[in-house]
Order: sequence, then structure tokens, then C-alpha cells
Amino acid sequence: MNLSSSRVVNIADLRSIAERRVPKVVFDYLDGGADGEVTLRENCRAFESVLFRPRQAVAFPEVNLRARVLGHELSVPFMLAPVGYSRMMHPGGEVVAARAAGIAGTGYILSTISGHMLENVKAATPAPTWYQLYLVGGREAAEGAIERARNAGFSALVITVDTAVAGMRERDPRNGMKELLSGSLLSKIPFVPQILSRPGWLLSFLLDGGMPDLENVVIPGQGPMPLIDVTVSLGRSAVTWADLRWIRESWKGPIVVKGILIADDARRAVDEGAAAIVVSNHGARQLDYVSPTIRALPEIVAAVHGQTEVLMDGGVRRGSDIVKALCLGARAVLIGRAYAYGLAAAGQAGVARAIEILRADVDRTMRLLGCGAVSELNRSYIEYPCEWERAAKA
Ligand code: GLV
Repeated sequence: MNLSSSRVVNIADLRSIAERRVPKVVFDYLDGGADGEVTLRENCRAFESVLFRPRQAVAFPEVNLRARVLGHELSVPFMLAPVGYSRMMHPGGEVVAARAAGIAGTGYILSTISGHMLENVKAATPAPTWYQLYLVGGREAAEGAIERARNAGFSALVITVDTAVAGMRERDPRNGMKELLSGSLLSKIPFVPQILSRPGWLLSFLLDGGMPDLENVVIPGQGPMPLIDVTVSLGRSAVTWADLRWIRESWKGPIVVKGILIADDARRAVDEGAAAIVVSNHGARQLDYVSPTIRALPEIVAAVHGQTEVLMDGGVRRGSDIVKALCLGARAVLIGRAYAYGLAAAGQAGVARAIEILRADVDRTMRLLGCGAVSELNRSYIEYPCEWERAAKA
């Protein structure tokens, strides 16, 4: 795969290559959002409402891109978000994504909906690795994963709190995701042509052994859970504040609460002992018509008064988006689709290219902005709609 800088200039270029390489059902799972995809579009569009206020005539021999998150030093102010079904996008899946992150000196968050064993993912990277826990296989399976994650050296547990049920990602049923993953042979037939039209992907999928199991959801007495449709899996994944207590007891290390969109929940997360929160709408895959995350960020930053670290994800496709989020108070940003397009396009090399594009973007943006360190970014470098601020004060 040719990922040269003339062919792949930005993340959108990786998206186009991914679309041509993987079957529609896989691409749409990654690319799509809930319902009318209003928040999906808004997550990206809202960044356009934030404008820069550069300081001119300053130059830096080097820009410091390092960010500190939960005591870890990251070489760039972003890390890789949990992405389900990564092994369907590319056989290397979670292992190669974690490896690419590690080579770049940044962290990786492993989703419960993963096809590679968490031990192998951790072994692929010396950089910080966090485990994102869903309760999909029940409490005992979750406790088993927590213990394995601790023994393997994962340094934080990420609890996603926005999945009471799965959002309605309308593209998935149209593409036959459920039938292809767990239906009868007969029910799969209408959806097979999209698979056959991607022979390169199909060959690599078959050589990888076909459908992976959920290697990190081990049901006691049964073994790893078979891969199931996302609606079913997230439908069994709900986590409540009450669950957070036994999870905290069982894990004992830092907990990151992901999926916060309003001040009250942010304060609740702080009270429940969250070491960090992620302002997130789950990449617009759950409830549609919620705030784009960049807009929700000032409210959350104001609500927690520095009592916990604030991260954000959603709609990040350029380094300038990352810089804007940092100006609004995020300590670092999680990137999801931006690297997953690279994974689907070209495995590890694609993830590495995505990270390099964003790293170079952040570096260039900082220089053009006249700021020498990401830790020095603040609101004086941007202007943004005043109603975002009103929400923060309410
Ligand atoms: C998994 O968490 C998904 O949103 O698809």
C-alpha cells in the first residue's frame, strides 16, 4: 500500500483508501453514527466554529508536544481511543495499533470488543496501555478481564458510561452486520456480494482464521465469547454508578470515566473517584442530537475545577482540532476513527501514517500559532461561540 506523503496528505485520504479495501459492512461500522448522524457531522463541524488568534513573529527551534496524562508522559498530546472490532478491519487489529502507538511514544486503549488477547496487545508496546471495560459477558467475565489486565501491566481502566443500550447505527442492519456475524448460512446470502467484492480483505481475513472470538471476554467454564453483533454486545454492556463501586474495588488502580457530556455527571464522576474523565459522545454512535464534544468541553472543564484530568474525543480529524481541544482545557485528546481509517487501509503502516499526520499537524499548528509548548495552550489562542461559555457557567 502506497502511503506516501503525496498520496496520503490527510486523514480523509486514509478514509478513502479504507473504503476501497474493506467490505461495506466493516467500513460503515467504523464510519457510521447513530440515527440521522446529526451529531456525527456536528462533532467535526463544531471545530469549524473555533478560530485561532495567533501570536506572530515568534519562532521556536523546537515545539514541546509532550502531554502528561495520569502521570504518564506522552510524546504527543493524543492517544488511541478504544475501537471495537479492530481485528475485522485488519488481521493485526489491536496488536498493530498498539505497536504503532508505542513506536510513536503514545498510549493505546484496548476495547473489550477486541479480537486479540490483551496480553499480546500489552506486549506490543512499552507505552501506557489502558483497558476499556464493558460488562458484555457478565460480572465474572469482567472480573477475569480486570485481573488479566492488571497482571499484564495495563495502567488504567476505562469505563464507558454511555451505553445503556446500543445506539441505532442505521448502516449496520442495512449491511447485514448481524446476519454476517451470527446468522444462518441462508440469511447471510444477500449480504455476501459486498464481501466478495473485496478479495484482498477476504483473503487476509481467511488467512487470519476467519471470525475472531472476543478473546478478552472469557465466560467461566465456556471460554472466549464468540463475536456478536454490536447491538447485542452493547445491549449487554451497560455500566451504572453502582457497578463503578465494585469495579473500583476489583481494579484498585486509576479509573477513567468515558462518555461524560454534562456538568452534573462530571461532578458525579469526580465524587466516584475518577482519575480522569473523557468528554465523549461515543463518536456519535449512541444518542444522536447530543452536543458535539468540543462544544461540551468548556462546561465539563469548568465543572471539575481541576479535580480530575479531562480528556476528550469526537470529530478529531486534524491536528488543529487537537490544538483547539487543548486550548479549551483538555489535557489530551483521544483519536478513534482517525487512526482506525489507517488500520483498515493498511494495518500498522496506516495507523503509523495517521499518527504522523496528526503529530506533524499539531507541530505546524503550534508554530503558526506562536506557542512553543502544548502545556502552554489556553483560551487566549482561540475564539469560540459565546453560548458555549454560557453553558459552562449555568
Ligand atoms: C463499540 O463500542 C461501538 O461503539 O461500536
